[in-house]
Amino acid sequence: MVANQYYDEVASKFARDIETGPRNEFRLQVMYPSVMQAIGDIRDQSALDLACGTGVYARFLRQRGAARVTGVDISAGMIDVAQSYESARPLGITYLVHDVAELPTLGAFDVAVAATLFNFADSRQMLKRMYERIRANLRPGGRLVALMQNAQFDPGATVIGQFGMHQRDHSPEDGSTVLVDLGDPPQTVTTWSWHSATHEQVAEQAGFTRLQWHPHISVAEPEHPDYAAFKKYLDNPHMVILSAEAA
Ligand SMILES: C[S@@+](CC[C@H](N)C(=O)[O-])C[C@H]1O[C@@H](n2cnc3c(N)ncnc32)[C@H](O)[C@@H]1O
Repeated sequence: MVANQYYDEVASKFARDIETGPRNEFRLQVMYPSVMQAIGDIRDQSALDLACGTGVYARFLRQRGAARVTGVDISAGMIDVAQSYESARPLGITYLVHDVAELPTLGAFDVAVAATLFNFADSRQMLKRMYERIRANLRPGGRLVALMQNAQFDPGATVIGQFGMHQRDHSPEDGSTVLVDLGDPPQTVTTWSWHSATHEQVAEQAGFTRLQWHPHISVAEPEHPDYAAFKKYLDNPHMVILSAEAA
């Protein structure tokens, strides 16, 4: 199923899935701290949360002192959910429906976060277009932090199943599809996996420099029941984190 159709259908279920149970625990102990560490100090900065979904990172950014945050997603259903959080507990975040590959220039932001956006680039051309539109929305020296499929991921040696995520059809080819089964009952969404060398080339062509890959971290205490699984995840993460600076 294509991204906007899938996410429109599952929007409120997605919010529930990532906010409760094992997937939430994985996000809290590993994914969010890893991405937020790569973002670093965000105080007084303007930020874009691209493929914002229900607005998880947008809210983190505001809560950690970002001056202005805009969330963008292709799925109107996901933006509705994000907006409902904003209405219930206003943080001053603006949410917009856009395809990032066609994103107009909304401003010259200090930071852009793209958590699982590039997973939905179904061609190298689309991947490049996404990087270009992000570059056009950053000031020179502004930073992009992106989380995406790890092309080197070994699905045979992973712990992600116990956190409610299953990946199928992983092939080592650049730009290959990865089928991801999510939620309970599971539904399949198609994503794409691009080699890190491809991300580096395309990002540089789109006007990024100072590319850096960041390791995942786990903040779980040794007493946490999943402590060992989180540690194991760090050896074979299904996602990788890239930061880059707008030239
Ligand atoms: C797995 S969700 C991640 C949401 C959020 N970033 C998070 O980590 O919780 C992926 C999101 O990417 C969005 N998406 C997919 N393709 C997109 C595109 N071309 N432009 C903008 N958003 C897109 C989907 O609608 C969905 O909300």
